[in-house]
Amino acid sequence: MSVQGFPPGRAAVLTGLGAALPDRVVDNHELAGRLDTSDEWIRTRTGIRERRIAAPGESTVDLAVAAGRQALAGTGAGADAVVLATSTADQLCPASAPQVAARLGLGTAAAFDVNAVCSGFIYALATAQGLIAGGIAKRVLVIGADVFTSLLDPEDRTTVPIFGDGAGAVVLRGGDADEPGALGPFDLHSEGELADLLWVEAGGSRHRFSDDPRDHYLRMQGTAVFRHACARMAESSRAVLDQAGWMVGDVDRFVGHQANIRILQVAAKHLGLPADAVVANIDRVGNTSAASIPLALADAAADATIVPGHRVVLTAFGAGLTWGSTLLTWPDVL
Ligand code: UT7
Repeated sequence: MSVQGFPPGRAAVLTGLGAALPDRVVDNHELAGRLDTSDEWIRTRTGIRERRIAAPGESTVDLAVAAGRQALAGTGAGADAVVLATSTADQLCPASAPQVAARLGLGTAAAFDVNAVCSGFIYALATAQGLIAGGIAKRVLVIGADVFTSLLDPEDRTTVPIFGDGAGAVVLRGGDADEPGALGPFDLHSEGELADLLWVEAGGSRHRFSDDPRDHYLRMQGTAVFRHACARMAESSRAVLDQAGWMVGDVDRFVGHQANIRILQVAAKHLGLPADAVVANIDRVGNTSAASIPLALADAAADATIVPGHRVVLTAFGAGLTWGSTLLTWPDVL
């Protein structure tokens, strides 16, 4: 699916950027003290050294509000819609985005959640682009936020070392397709036959409650997910490059979902990108699900790994299965 050819003023242009992390840092050594794992295993298999973990009572809405506030502050204006990418909403019902909009003082702005798990931020950007292109919204706050550790079995060494909590946000405004910051084409896909590679069995409408607590936690077939992630992120990135008429050599920075440093390296290699194009902050935050891409963007913009004029590809892969990509020329934003 792709969206191109916008009327004047109706392309979605990135204009604000924000990030929020819980205060608590948990390093690999701390995990190795209570799980059958080691700093060496986690670092060499995933690239992660530490992650941030939400405090008891600290929620997805709390982190989303902090990231959203920072993104809006950079623009000096509000938003008439909030799209929150998350799979760990504060409640099963209702969506969390209206609470985020209310706490940010956005009045009666449209607000809803998008759940495409780790691909959620790309899906939310595409949704926001549609709202702007359709003349439904003028400025959209797009947030990726997850307290993904709330889904983890604290005794599962195959998931606990990988995930962390956080939120990242951008503001999109209506503008022109040829200006820096304009989101390019999108490529979005799913493969529901493979949902059980990465899922939580109980707690939803089909299997409401299980006596086995493990059914309420995330189960992951890591090696299979790894293989799909590498192939799909490369394939999807190539699809948006082709739609935009960019050559691989035009790409300055490759911002992939921070699931595993090895996945990012393999996907970049499949695409034919040099290793130094890969943007990574996974060593400090782990896999933060829907927050992963905007957090990586905020870090990279802050330390000038990404600078105005860079041509940037964004790509993600997650449970569902879902995956997707888009691209942009980086604007003057901080
Ligand atoms: O956001 C999207 C969702 N998630 C992902 O994208 C994750 C994708 N998958 C991965 O990143 C990797 O598959 C993992 C990091 C999860 C696992 O790495 P792997 O290289 O695929 O390892 P493995 O699962 O094949 O396990 C290798 C060995 C096994 O031992 P044996 O059978 O070789 O004796 C595991 O039991 O490592 C063992 N192992 C561990 N050892 C120490 C598994 N987890 C751990 C651990 N510490 N935490």
